[in-house]
Amino acid sequence: MSLSVAVVGATGAVGREMLAVLEQRKFPSASVRAFASPRSAGVKIPFRGGDLTVEPLADGWHKGIDCALLSAGSSISKAVAPVAAEAGTVVIDNSSAFRMTDGVPLIIPEVNADALPARGKGCIVANPNCSTIILLMGITPLHRAFGVERVVVSTYQAASGAGAQAMAALEAETREFVAGGPPRAIAFHEPYAFNLFCHNSTVDAMTGLNGEEQKMIDETHKIWNDPAVRITATCVRVPVMRAHCESVNVTLKNAATLAQVRTSLTAFRGVSIVDDRLTNRFPTPQKASGGDDVLVGRLRADPSQLAPGASPESATRGFDLFLAGDQLRKGAALNAVQIAERMFL
Ligand SMILES: NC(=O)c1ccc[n+]([C@@H]2O[C@H](COP(=O)([O-])OP(=O)(O)OC[C@H]3O[C@@H](n4cnc5c(N)ncnc54)[C@H](OP(=O)(O)O)[C@@H]3O)[C@@H](O)[C@H]2O)c1
Repeated sequence: MSLSVAVVGATGAVGREMLAVLEQRKFPSASVRAFASPRSAGVKIPFRGGDLTVEPLADGWHKGIDCALLSAGSSISKAVAPVAAEAGTVVIDNSSAFRMTDGVPLIIPEVNADALPARGKGCIVANPNCSTIILLMGITPLHRAFGVERVVVSTYQAASGAGAQAMAALEAETREFVAGGPPRAIAFHEPYAFNLFCHNSTVDAMTGLNGEEQKMIDETHKIWNDPAVRITATCVRVPVMRAHCESVNVTLKNAATLAQVRTSLTAFRGVSIVDDRLTNRFPTPQKASGGDDVLVGRLRADPSQLAPGASPESATRGFDLFLAGDQLRKGAALNAVQIAERMFL
């Protein structure tokens, strides 16, 4: 198979990672083209031992493209994805533009590949929000084995989740702060270095939820095709360069032992257990960075849900876990390329 692939947003944090993942996974493409804004026209990006020259996104960009990986933001996706899909391109979109659109599948291949459309014609497939992907990689094994009734999740989200400019801002603010300068907010509504704050998406005046929290709720219902799962989220930006972490409390429908929970997680492709109580070694952003798997640890029975006097090894419905995942890879680029692999290979 010799496919023609386009990466739109190729100069961004996700786009560069997409090119790296295509190369690393030897995605079978006869040609790969890199598109970005006119500002980046002519920029060279190393790829497969040579250079790709970035092209400005212009009308007709999709002609002859079998598969387009979009990561140029939601307004660009809204403008270009339907036209390309209509013309026969399989568009895999990283933005939030179509995630909740009826008829557009929202896919994590390990979780709901069965919702992918048939091959052979143009379509839009949406990549979920990075925090949703990391959460569902960690708790789908429990949902399948025991049923998940309720989820309480708190995120610790890295700068790279907000793109290349946020990463540069964190670095600049950190340099200024350690040099004795006053805290300064370059990229967000609050100073970022040596600080943490409510996720930078808009906070709904009525619900009090920020946009990221609402996405985690809505997208989980769509991906699991189960609007009955009760879920609440608190999303926080932390001064970490790369990889998101999430603290998760789940209530299962059916009681399980810690050993059974561990077994179900161990068997799930794309998850690695990092859980060493003896040496206090658990998932961290640094351990997750650059890797493909979502790391799962701090596995324990939730003491507030154990029967009085019950052993933490006994069957219970409440568990706590801590996740770390590289949101540029599994949360975005890798997930998108895995979708392409499922669609074409
Ligand atoms: N970062 C993450 O972890 C993550 C995870 C999941 C989903 N996403 C989503 O992926 C998308 C990109 O995120 P990012 O973090 O990679 O952002 P980013 O680093 O800011 O990159 C944005 C990319 O979009 C391009 N672009 C901007 N305006 C354009 C235009 N008018 N025409 C064509 N290209 C244009 C930029 O090109 P120039 O360099 O030329 O400006 C750049 O390549 C967003 O929708 C984001 O929500 C991000």
